[in-house]
Amino acid sequence: MSESLSLPEQKRRLRQAMRRARRALSRSERTRAGKRLARLGRRLILKNRHPRVALYFSHDSEIPTGALIQTLLEHGAEVYLPVLHPVYHNRLWFARYTPETPMVRNTYGIAEPDIRRAGRVPPWTLSQVCLPLVAFDEKGYRLGMGGGYYDRTFDRARPMPKRPRLTGLAYEFQRQAHIPREPWDVPLEAVVTDQQIRLFRPT
Ligand SMILES: Nc1ncnc2c1ncn2[C@@H]1O[C@H](COP(=O)(O)OP(=O)(O)OP(=O)(O)O)[C@@H](O)[C@H]1O
Ligand SMILES: [Mg+2]
Repeated sequence: MSESLSLPEQKRRLRQAMRRARRALSRSERTRAGKRLARLGRRLILKNRHPRVALYFSHDSEIPTGALIQTLLEHGAEVYLPVLHPVYHNRLWFARYTPETPMVRNTYGIAEPDIRRAGRVPPWTLSQVCLPLVAFDEKGYRLGMGGGYYDRTFDRARPMPKRPRLTGLAYEFQRQAHIPREPWDVPLEAVVTDQQIRLFRPT
């Protein structure tokens, strides 16, 4: 990408190109990728014997996460989904998810557990958090949709009793040589795609 472009413009173009590429996939390509992601993601997540893992419902042509969520539930993992924090603007909390969990739509129209009826937990109680992304690079840096939700929630300057492992989920083609980085961007420990598991940092 041209060095002469401003950082916001580089990010805007990358987001646009990646979302366009995702939207170009056929239904059967998406389903197949989601199944491969489930197989690889399960392998990584179930290395932990008692996983308390946050996932998310895919949205806006993201790689399908339904098969991964289902297989993790079948293997006895505790699965959580992000919920918008009721007080701290642009931060996430997490709530337990099972197929019986009552769901509501948040301000973005994305289904999330109804926290009036599902227990809400702070991020540091999770062993692992799987994040959506628009693009990732070989060092584990991530470009998201631009809300900064995950960057704020896992801000390295914010004291936390414990930090969950952050794992990005994506199509293989979302990999880039270098993602434009900003001081607040929180790096990932791993990325799982439909093709492989990448580990970036010792755990
Ligand atoms: N720790 C933080 N504290 C305050 N503001 C933050 C923090 N992290 C990110 N932001 C703000 O959020 C905005 C979006 O950040 P960025 O472009 O990195 O989003 P993103 O990583 O693509 O989004 P997301 O994490 O939601 O997928 C930035 O303008 C930045 O100022
Ligand atoms: Mg960011």
